[in-house]
Amino acid sequence: MSPSEPTEPAILVEGLRKSFGSVQALRGIDFAVERGSVLGVLGPNGAGKTTAVRILTTLLRPDGGRALIEGMDVVRQPEAVREIIGLAGQSAAIQDELTGRENLEILGRLYHLPKARARLRAEELLERFDLLDAANRTARTYSGGMARRLDLAASLVAEPAVLFLDEPRMRLGGI
Ligand SMILES: Nc1ncnc2c1ncn2[C@@H]1O[C@H](COP(=O)(O)OP(=O)(O)OP(=O)(O)O)[C@@H](O)[C@H]1O
Ligand SMILES: [Mg+2]
Repeated sequence: MSPSEPTEPAILVEGLRKSFGSVQALRGIDFAVERGSVLGVLGPNGAGKTTAVRILTTLLRPDGGRALIEGMDVVRQPEAVREIIGLAGQSAAIQDELTGRENLEILGRLYHLPKARARLRAEELLERFDLLDAANRTARTYSGGMARRLDLAASLVAEPAVLFLDEPRMRLGGI
């Protein structure tokens, strides 16, 4: 990164709080994640990990504190935040009746990539996630691990600046 570029962290979380009724899921958490780095968050079931991911990806409003993605506030600028993030763990992005290749190409088109670019991006991702052999099979026929890899590939179609993975349950070698 050149010195003239903004140096705000990729993710900045300060005093983030969220309760569901009497359950305090987040009691004021703070952390910062530098650009180009990977942060893994471990905690027992119910610790609040998914709650934090949902807030950071603009799917849930916090009760207090703040969270910035590349300097943009998840509550005040949710659309801008959504433009630069990716989220895996939502297999809803995958359509079972389409092939792996079709799924990735259609997502590329939804992200306004030109047709040729969408096709190329799908091919790159199929190769990167070792799905070329299964590329022409419908996603319905994929094994659990293959479906998971397709989901992850789908989350990378738009080349997000910040990618959230909630329990990816797989080895992430090479990405
Ligand atoms: N929509 C909701 N309504 C009520 N309670 C909720 C809701 N979402 C989460 N909770 C509660 O908030 C707490 C944190 O849940 P969360 O899903 O964030 O945990 P987690 O760290 O992701 O757990 P796991 O490791 O099991 O995925 C739990 O007590 C959970 O029951
Ligand atoms: Mg969870």
